[in-house]
Amino acid sequence: MKKFNVAVVGVGAVGVEMLRILKERKFPVGKLKVFARSERDIYVDKDSYHVLKVDHHGFKNIDIALFAGTEGEKGAAVTYASSAIKQGAVVIDNGADFRMEKDVPLVVPEVNPKDIKKHKGIISNPNCSTIQMVVALAPIQKRLGLKRIIVCSYQAASGAGRSAVKELMAQSKAVLDGKTVKPDALPQQIAFNVFPHIGGFQKESYTSEEWKTVKETHKIFHDDKIKVTATCVRVPVATGHSEAVYIETKKAMSVSKLQNLLSKSAGIEVVDDPKNGKYPLPINAEGKDAVYVGRIRKDPFVKNAYWLWVVSDNLRKGAALNAIQIAELLIK
Ligand SMILES: NC(=O)c1ccc[n+]([C@@H]2O[C@H](COP(=O)([O-])OP(=O)(O)OC[C@H]3O[C@@H](n4cnc5c(N)ncnc54)[C@H](OP(=O)(O)O)[C@@H]3O)[C@@H](O)[C@H]2O)c1
Repeated sequence: MKKFNVAVVGVGAVGVEMLRILKERKFPVGKLKVFARSERDIYVDKDSYHVLKVDHHGFKNIDIALFAGTEGEKGAAVTYASSAIKQGAVVIDNGADFRMEKDVPLVVPEVNPKDIKKHKGIISNPNCSTIQMVVALAPIQKRLGLKRIIVCSYQAASGAGRSAVKELMAQSKAVLDGKTVKPDALPQQIAFNVFPHIGGFQKESYTSEEWKTVKETHKIFHDDKIKVTATCVRVPVATGHSEAVYIETKKAMSVSKLQNLLSKSAGIEVVDDPKNGKYPLPINAEGKDAVYVGRIRKDPFVKNAYWLWVVSDNLRKGAALNAIQIAELLIK
C-alpha cells in the first residue's frame, strides 16, 4: 500500500486528537512530522511523539499537512500554508481563515465529498458546530429540501482549545472552594455558568461563531437561500457540543420515517427513546466518531417543521476526524 508523508501542525486539543485518529484509522503514514511552537517530546496515550519547532522549511517531502495550530486570533496556516504548498503538500486546515475563499473547498465527507476536487492546495475543515449540524441535516436536505434552520448551540469548553478546558476545571474547583474566579481564556466565568458569547461580536449583533454557522452551511449545501440563524452558547462541559436544531422543510415526512432516514445515513446514530431516558448526551459522545441525533419531533403549529437534538465530539467529528476523513478522500 502506498504511504504518504504527513505533517501535523499544532498539538493542542485538536492536534493531539489528530495524532490519535491517524493511528486508530491506520492512515497509511510514511514519515510523520509533528510541529508546534517549541521542540519537545509529548505523549498521546502511550505513544511518544517528537515535536519540532515549526518553520517555513519543514514541509519538504510532506504530502499532506494537517493544520491545527493557532496563532493569536488566527490559525497557523495563515503563516505556513503557502510554504507547505510550495514544497508540494496539500494543506487541510482546521482554522477559519480560508473557509470562505472561493478556491478553497469546505468539506464534510458525508455531505459534499465531490467539492474536494476543486482544491488548489488548501482544503478547509468547517467549524465544529457547523460540521455536526450539516451531517445531521444532509439527508433531510436531500430528501425534503430545507427552507429554514434555527439553531441554538450548547458548546463545550474544549471548542476554545486546551486552555479553556484547564480554565473550566480550575474555576470549578475554585468556586467549590469558595474562592472568586477571574475569566482569562474565555470571555466570562465558565464554571457553573453559561454565556451567549463565542467569538467576537459582528454585523447585526451576531457573533463570529454564529455567522460561521450561517455562511458555512450555505457553502457546504451550495444553497444560500436557506434561512439560517443561530445563537451559540458556551456551557460548562469539557467536550461535546450539543445543538437544538429547528428546521422547516419543503416536503413533509412522518417522525418515524425521519428517524429511519437518519439512522441509515452516513455518520449518524439515532438515539431517540426519550420515555426510557435515551437521547444524545455530550458525556456519551466524547471519544466517539458519530453525530448523535435524538428528540426528533414535529412543531405542532407549523407545517413541515421539526426539532432535532444533535450532539457530537467537537474535537473528533467537529475537527480532527473530519480532517482525516478529508485526507482519506484525498488519497483515494
Ligand atoms: N477545539 C475545537 O473544537 C476546534 C474545532 C474546530 C476547529 N478548531 C481550530 O483548530 C485549531 C487548533 O485549535 P485547538 O483547539 O487545538 O487549539 P489549542 O488547544 O489552543 O492548541 C493550539 C496549538 O497551536 C500551536 N501553535 C500556537 N502558535 C503556533 C504557531 N505560530 N505555529 C504553530 N503552532 C502554533 C500550539 O503550540 P504549543 O503546543 O507549542 O503551544 C498548540 O499546540 C484552531 O485554528 C481552531 O480554531 C478547533
